[in-house]
Formats: sequence, C-alpha cells, structure tokens
Amino acid sequence: MFVLLGMNLAVLVFASAATLTTFALDNGLMRTPPMGWLAWERYRCDIDCEHDPKNCISENLFIDMADRLFEDGWKELGYVYVNIDDCWSLKTRDKQGRLQPDPKRFPGGIRKLSRYMHDRGLKLGIYGDMGNYTCMGYPGTPLDKIAVDAQTFADWEVDMFKFDGCYSNATDQEQGYPLMSKALNATGRPIGYSCSWPAYQGGLPPKVNYTQLGQLCNLWRNYGDIQDSWDSVLSIIDWVFENQDVLTPAAGPGRWNDPDMLIVGNFGLSKDQSRTQMALWAIMAAPLFMSTDLRVISGEARSILQNKMIIGINQDVLGFQGRRILKEKSGIEVFWRPLSNNASALVFFSRRTDMPYRYKTSLSKLNYTADSYKVTDVFTGKTDILKDSTDFVVSVNPTGVVMWYISAAGKLRFHHLSRDGKLHGPAYAAKENAIPPVFL
Ligand code: GLA
Repeated sequence: MFVLLGMNLAVLVFASAATLTTFALDNGLMRTPPMGWLAWERYRCDIDCEHDPKNCISENLFIDMADRLFEDGWKELGYVYVNIDDCWSLKTRDKQGRLQPDPKRFPGGIRKLSRYMHDRGLKLGIYGDMGNYTCMGYPGTPLDKIAVDAQTFADWEVDMFKFDGCYSNATDQEQGYPLMSKALNATGRPIGYSCSWPAYQGGLPPKVNYTQLGQLCNLWRNYGDIQDSWDSVLSIIDWVFENQDVLTPAAGPGRWNDPDMLIVGNFGLSKDQSRTQMALWAIMAAPLFMSTDLRVISGEARSILQNKMIIGINQDVLGFQGRRILKEKSGIEVFWRPLSNNASALVFFSRRTDMPYRYKTSLSKLNYTADSYKVTDVFTGKTDILKDSTDFVVSVNPTGVVMWYISAAGKLRFHHLSRDGKLHGPAYAAKENAIPPVFL
C-alpha cells in the first residue's frame, strides 16, 4: 500500500548528529534559520520611483517594511532581517572604487538604513554578485573587488550579505565564495553570509561540496528562483525532497539550505497552498524570508506567517532538516522533522486536485514506537493523545497540509483514576508535557 522512504529513526538522528558536530562557519551567526523580509520576489528591480514611489526599490520601502516588522508583532516572532536585493546601487563605482547606493533612491545612504534597523532591534542585509555584473546589470564584485566591498558593507554596519553568481564562471566561484567568506570575517563585523554558489552549479555533488559550503556560508541557495505561483513552490518542494539524502546532512546550526523566499501574502497561492509553503519551509529548517507588502497583508496570510508553533518548529535548536518519509499512491506525502525535547513535527500533504482526502494511518506506521503521544494540530490548536498503534484519519485539502507537533504524552496521573479504575479528569500531566514556551 505504501512505501516507507525514511531510514530507521535512530540511524537517521545519529547520522545527522554526527555531521552536525563537524563543520560550521565559525562566525557564531544564525544558529537557527534566519528570519526576516527580502525585497526580491515581490519588488524585483522596480526603480521607477517617479511613478510608484511607495513600491520602488528605495530607502522608503525598507523603512516602511522595518516599521511594519517593528510595530505589527513580526519582530518578536523572530523576523528581524530587512534585506535589500539587486538594483540598489549606481551603475558605476565611486572614485575610490567602492560600490555606491543610488543617491536619488537612497538619499541617506545605506548607513542611514542600518542605523534605522539597529535602533529598532532589526538587522539590515544587502546584496552583491560574484561576477562582473549583478543579475540585473549593476556592478558586480569580481575577485579583485572582494576585499573592498566586504569592508564597505562592514563600514555601513550591514548584518547580512547575499552573494549572487550571475556573470561568473565555475572557476571564479571556486575562488570568490571562499575569499568573500574570509574577507567578511576579516572586517571583524559579524555578517551573515548567504551564498548562491550551489544554485549556479546545479545544487548537487560532485559539483557542489556541501561540507565546504557549511564551513564558508551561513546559508545557500541550491535551486532556481521562486516565483509567485504554486507551480514554482511545488517544483522547489519536489527538488528538495528528491535530493534530501544530499541536502539534509548539509544543514545544521549556522548552515542552512535556502529554498528561497516565502511568497505567502502575494497573489499566486491559495490559503491551503500558503499553509503548505509555511509548513514545509518549517520541516526543511529553511530561512524564513517573507517577500510581500507588509503594509497591506491580509489577516489570513499574516496568521499563517505568524503561526507560533510553526515558527517554533522552524527555529528548533537542534537544527535538523526534516525529510519526506512517505509517498503514497493516493497522492498523500508525509514529512517528518525531529525536534528537541523528544518532540517532532509531521506534515501530511496532498498532491490531489479533487477534494479533501481522508488519509488513514497510525503513528506506528510512521515509525513512532513510544506507545502514546500528545499531538497538536498547529493550525487549529486542537490536541489529542494518540497511542502509536491507534489508527487515525486526517482530512487533507487539495494542495494543502495537515501539520502536527508531536510530543511525548504525559504519564497517567494516578490520582485521576478513581477506585473503579476509570479515568476522571485529564489523562496526562499537562504541565510536565507542556509544549515548550515558544509555542504559548
Ligand atoms: C538572481 C537571484 C535572485 C535575485 C536576482 C536579482 O536571480 O537568484 O534571488 O537576487 O538574481 O537580480
């Protein structure tokens, strides 16, 4: 009926733990996946401030987004980075050979923005490209400019740097990505380092060396750019989980696979598809960079992006990237991520396009063996105690998910058992087994 794709749980956890202890970029940053806002997917290279001053790539846009993060509860949930992408600079360097922001669109310079962020407990990210030009044709950072550009970003007090790879070749990249890592470290300023290198090399070994990447970068794009469509989200999900044996060991505290931005809040996804993106980005331990207009975001999209349990799962301190453990003929797929405190997350995803599908299984069929568990549906908040052997049914909407946070069930409290031996009152010790505070 179904095929178990996962390895034995114990083997898997052991294997991941072994790789976790080995290598990570030694800048102490991003021990959990970074969270914030990134301009590209929603705003692209819109520099037409004359006609659309509210939505063009300019100081005002980043200030507006910072205000929203600060005032609308995003910051407290961990969304702290405000990241500039392509098209921020002038087409020429200054007399000293440094990159310079377009003074019309960034009149206060990048330093004004970093100050603005820091005053509010936020962080600023910026973008560059390892080749002669950025993808949109702005000045790149070829090998001989790496040191000066790293220093410029540090002088501007930037906190994160995305290094793209357009207009560079494999040989340049082999030198440039490590050189930039060293150059950023040499500035003495902690700057999170996002590398697009693997995405330009097909994302897989032998061309991509994930051990090396983990030593150089805090996160890296492995695959193509996300677009505002379900097709795009699904193609990323499929690629990541088809290659999970290569990708999951690469991730861990300080080093993350980046399946690209969250497009929740935009135009291309239904409510169910938005939940699917959020749920599976949490399973993947993915960086959570929203790319949407936070000034006008709907309540529905906001509640998905601000779901505390999903964020807690995404940010779990163990930093294990989850896996697809089942692919059913019915079109249901099951994903699993081990979490700290003997907890875990499960996602039931439906590829179907007909109607909600009633999927029947049991925890023991999904590799759970510890008798009974407390299960919380992260979207409805409903909880239940489930024995591993008990069959249950979840109803999964087309292109949607059901997501569970699973922790050990409490021991029976004997004072709740009356003399007749039947249960009276709660069957588990709620406090002992409470969901970690981050979820409350
Ligand atoms: C590439 C990157 C995108 C974005 C654009 C900017 O396509 O993958 O994320 O940065 O360049 O031009």
